Amino acid sequence: MSARIIDGNAVSRKIRSDCAERVARLRAERNVTPSLAVIIVGDDQASRIYVRNKMKAAEDVGVISRLHDFAADADPDLVLHLIDRLNDDPLVHGILVQLPLPPQFNIYSVLHRIHPRKDVDGFHLYNVGGLVVGRTVFSPCTPYGVMKLLQHVGIEVAGQNAVIVGASNIVGKPMALMLMQQEATVAICHARTRDLAQFTILADILVVAAGVPGLIVPQMVKSGAVVIDVGINRLPSGKIVGDVDFEGVRGKASYITPVPGGVGPMTVTMLISNTILSAEQASAAPALDDPFARADIPLEQI
Ligand code: GUN
Repeated sequence: MSARIIDGNAVSRKIRSDCAERVARLRAERNVTPSLAVIIVGDDQASRIYVRNKMKAAEDVGVISRLHDFAADADPDLVLHLIDRLNDDPLVHGILVQLPLPPQFNIYSVLHRIHPRKDVDGFHLYNVGGLVVGRTVFSPCTPYGVMKLLQHVGIEVAGQNAVIVGASNIVGKPMALMLMQQEATVAICHARTRDLAQFTILADILVVAAGVPGLIVPQMVKSGAVVIDVGINRLPSGKIVGDVDFEGVRGKASYITPVPGGVGPMTVTMLISNTILSAEQASAAPALDDPFARADIPLEQI
């Protein structure tokens, strides 16, 4: 068998074109232009490239994006005060703090300062909780992108064995919740898992987000599995590869995502989609049963 390749660039193009239409509709019908505030601290080169890609993708579909750039030794209070201002600004619909942050920052105090209604990365506890109970507001962009890829190629998730390799807060854990919400049977493996292969071999859907190049080899993959590679690793040669031995595993899987050009572009696309969703929600009548429906209600009053 030779796996069909899931083209994340093509799926992204389709969703981004829908995004452009949603922006045009918001402008025409509500006189609202979605806007994303991006905060970056320090000079991590990979983070700077990611941020540039996110802002370019936003602008391509008509979403305004504004960069707030801090030096590596920035005082965390300055960033927290900026977040307060952005929370209060009705013209800002999404706030993204690029991770990682320098060591003087407490990541959680920063992420939890963002109003849940502007938390387009889906990292605030309110949004994490929404994911747990199946009432998501903003889904974290990478696992959300994976779900969209599965949907796009028509993979039925319900009843499938899904195995996730990697238990991070950004990818592995939310991925498990999303697959569970769609009635997959889910296992999460991580760096302390003994005999990884005994789990991965059972997977109908295998999602790998471990950050270890070549971790998944053909012997670990069930024949006909759908293999989603979230890894982005730069080899000493400069080549970018995922966590899956692509050439080997494509001979065994039914579908596989390439790296680059698989999950990566979807992460950016879902961030843009979430930002537009935030603008759609902010300009619609608030749902009566949802105390977070209006971003202008201070958190402490909820
Ligand atoms: N750093 C690595 N991945 C992400 C992400 O999805 N969002 C943010 N804000 N930072 C990241």
